Amino acid sequence: MIPLSQPYIGDAERQAVLEVLDSGMLVQGKRTAQLEEAFAARCGTRHAIATSSGTTALHLACLAHGLGPGDEVITTPFTFIASVNCILYVGARPVFVDVEADTFNINPALIEAAITPRTRAILPVHLYGYPCDMDAILDIARRHNLAVIEDAAQAIGATYQGKPVGGFGTGCFSLYATKNVMSAEGGMITTNDDQIAERCRLLRNHGMPQRYQHQILGYNFRMSDLHAAIGLAQMQRLEEFTARRCANAAYLNAHLSRVITPGVRAGYGHVWHQYTVRVKDGLDRDRAVRQLNQAGVGTGIFYPRLANQHPYMRELGLADAHLPVAERLTGEVFSLPVHPQLSQRDLDTVVHEVNRL
Ligand SMILES: Cc1ncc(COP(=O)(O)O)c(C=O)c1O
Repeated sequence: MIPLSQPYIGDAERQAVLEVLDSGMLVQGKRTAQLEEAFAARCGTRHAIATSSGTTALHLACLAHGLGPGDEVITTPFTFIASVNCILYVGARPVFVDVEADTFNINPALIEAAITPRTRAILPVHLYGYPCDMDAILDIARRHNLAVIEDAAQAIGATYQGKPVGGFGTGCFSLYATKNVMSAEGGMITTNDDQIAERCRLLRNHGMPQRYQHQILGYNFRMSDLHAAIGLAQMQRLEEFTARRCANAAYLNAHLSRVITPGVRAGYGHVWHQYTVRVKDGLDRDRAVRQLNQAGVGTGIFYPRLANQHPYMRELGLADAHLPVAERLTGEVFSLPVHPQLSQRDLDTVVHEVNRL
């Protein structure tokens, strides 16, 4: 089977973990600080704060922005559930805005109609590594005095008009095992706002600026140095990994004919965390996926159900939003292998099997 994703673990990753084990400093030490520096440098931000996961990064960002009961946060329904759960964790209410069929991302033209006196933030998701239309989103946020929390979990290295994602608002990244840069589990917050950074650091470690002095109610969202060491080794190869993903995506775009392939708008630096196509000409998505799997081609469906359609979201009264484009996409999309470890033969197999669906 050609896997949909394949974590890269080389000698540098192995060696880095052993060094941490031998150092005796296992949590939030030198490697975590170095990984934070690497993210801040890559995202062009003054601060980066490492966390235990992308989910805890998003949760911390919502807390640091002071979001809570009575507040509304505008986001996309076409995403991994953590983008929405983080809003619920702090007691705020997600408000769903439909997406664009070509970018899969939140449609900025629909955001303003969803703003109410309770709206406090916009939480765009750079889905599959494709950046959102940040000019439009930032313009709305400025005019309505809203915070912007970017869910960049899938998008390390992506750029919008030449500027890295994670540097437009408060950026939240995931370093989960299958991500473009991974640390097995891990997350990162990026920001240029000194106060937000300070609050994230405090909240991450039990509200504790000095040992056993707890200023505020905090959490244990720390990263271990074992994870940071893996992430750091990976960060050193980010450009190479991304270039391979881009080349693989370009090859698939040039050769696939049986499906709608993903385009990229000018000025958008896509990093192809997922290469996601849409079915056309009456092709049945679920049958297509089964056929590909039988032929040895790994696939994924991100996501088969909108975030607001899960049982507990329904109970919260969130299921009624009018989201026709996102709803249609849940039945049309599937993702194909695009990761850096694919060989030319793998790519040709993917093309051959998709084109004969
Ligand atoms: C869009 C999105 N947001 C948030 C997350 C949460 O990250 P993690 O799994 O590291 O908690 C993910 C992870 O898959 C994601 O894809």
